[in-house]
Amino acid sequence: MSEPLDVPPADPAEFLDQAERSLLELSIQANRADWIYCTFITPDTEELTSLAAARLMTAATDLAKRSSALRGRTRSPVDARKLELLRRSFTLIAPSGAGEAEELSRLSSAMQALYARGRYQPRGSPAPLDVQGLSRILETSRDPASLEEAWSGWHAIARPMRSDFTRYVELANRGARELDYPDLGALWRAKYDMPADDFAREAGRLWDQVRPLYRSLHAYVRRRLGARYGPELVPDTGPIPAFLLGNMWAQSWAGIYPLLAPDTEGPSWDLGAVLRERKTTPQELVRYGERFFLSLGFEPLPATFWERSMFVRPPGRDVVCHASAWDIDYADDLRLKMCLEISEEDFFVVHHELGHNFYQRAYARQPFLFRESAHDGFHEAIGDTIALSVTPEYLTAIGLLDATSGPTDDIPYLLRRALAKLAFLPFGLVVDEWRWRVFSGDVGPERYNRTWWEMRTERQGIAPPPGRSEADFDPGAKFHVASGTPYMRYFLAHILEFQFHRALVRAAGSSGPLHRATIHGSRAAGERLRSMLELGSRREWPDALEAATGERRMDAAALLEYFAPLQRWLDHENQGAPVGW
Ligand code: ASP
Ligand code: SER
Ligand code: ZN
Repeated sequence: MSEPLDVPPADPAEFLDQAERSLLELSIQANRADWIYCTFITPDTEELTSLAAARLMTAATDLAKRSSALRGRTRSPVDARKLELLRRSFTLIAPSGAGEAEELSRLSSAMQALYARGRYQPRGSPAPLDVQGLSRILETSRDPASLEEAWSGWHAIARPMRSDFTRYVELANRGARELDYPDLGALWRAKYDMPADDFAREAGRLWDQVRPLYRSLHAYVRRRLGARYGPELVPDTGPIPAFLLGNMWAQSWAGIYPLLAPDTEGPSWDLGAVLRERKTTPQELVRYGERFFLSLGFEPLPATFWERSMFVRPPGRDVVCHASAWDIDYADDLRLKMCLEISEEDFFVVHHELGHNFYQRAYARQPFLFRESAHDGFHEAIGDTIALSVTPEYLTAIGLLDATSGPTDDIPYLLRRALAKLAFLPFGLVVDEWRWRVFSGDVGPERYNRTWWEMRTERQGIAPPPGRSEADFDPGAKFHVASGTPYMRYFLAHILEFQFHRALVRAAGSSGPLHRATIHGSRAAGERLRSMLELGSRREWPDALEAATGERRMDAAALLEYFAPLQRWLDHENQGAPVGW
């Protein structure tokens, strides 16, 4: 194994060469240890992954510190970019106190294990349920007491995470300060080729663009839920109870579409039911996703992808079920890890994850430090962009729907999409708005939970069940908080995917409405997409955005264009009804 450099080369090119070699090696080791941990959680694998992660974090931090001194010394723009990325591309920075990096790393693995092992046994259930089982209750039950019980049961698993999280914040900030960031949140905001404060404003600007449409959707949903559950539970003018929205975090409301469908809906379609009827296997479900990419001109996934991935929950052991896409060796050892179920939601998750894998493969020829997305929102947006092309027409073309069973109206289709995509936006924003305030010290442990709910109520217009207190740690009931994964990327992705979709369908030669268009089978769209993916993080993200779309700013205009028919319909439906909370 290469050791950290004792005497750093004074020549930036030589330094970067050694840095990339050592980071590649340590990252592969950390990935392998983490793969085994995530697919087989035991005290041993937990220890091994946290040690490998600590080693990588310590080396990366050391290199990041040294890179600062070399920044003025290169005239190569490529090396200058690498030095810049070296300083800002890690999510955690190792504090230098004795044993602190290891402690931080252990806390990270432990919080993730607490989440992955979390179970609650609802009254009347034959066995304890994990987050997937409890989520199914939230989606399918219409009994408020059962809904509230499943919601509260899951949120209880995060209580013991509070003290670990508090310590993690302390140590993570200590590390960030050693790299001269005021706190870890400032480092997370510094990853966007603009000053950290400008980025916070940029996110706010995008939210302002979509906020009126979100409020219209919220008003419509509240009225329909009010009619179903009554005004004591769903007030006419206040926030909606979080446990009524069909999802553990109220981040997608697509699960309760049947309660919200327009009265005029024509024949309805249920992709999950079709897939189950046909006895689609998990492998075949993933093949649907792969074939979409092949139709754009991408190469098939390697044989090892099919041999080494984990598609379904293995029996008899604890695993991290939350879906993820892996790039084990930064070459061709790509993998998918999920506990897939045959459902419409997982059909979309598969496309999401494969977007990561095809991105990873597209930038594999870049030098190591550029084997990343243009910014993290790009990584999250690619598979979702493809999924926007999963239209009824596309599903009919590949034989999953027959021409008569697809939705004939635009509104039911757009409403389903909005319940998944638009409903997500304020959640995508608030998770890190909350963490930014925690990392900056503005919100201390004595008001973690209260502030979490104040912020969620303000952004999402939802409320927790009564009686939450500082004995709870509700943020920890969300995977990305437990696993220390930044979340703003998903907010950005949900804006960007519409921008990408618009550009790609136009490249494919389609001029019709955005929500009806698919890029399936278009080599021209594939070329355009690949020109962006292959850049990795070599160029600043506006260059990558321009390669795919011709635009240099993130912009929600394409999202608004996509949903324009729904916006008109919602405005009509909401006439005279209260909007806002
Ligand atoms: N689909 C999951 C989510 O987005 C995991 C991922 O990001 O790949 O959190
Ligand atoms: N996959 C992300 C999540 O589960 C964003 O949708 O939160
Ligand atoms: Zn993702």
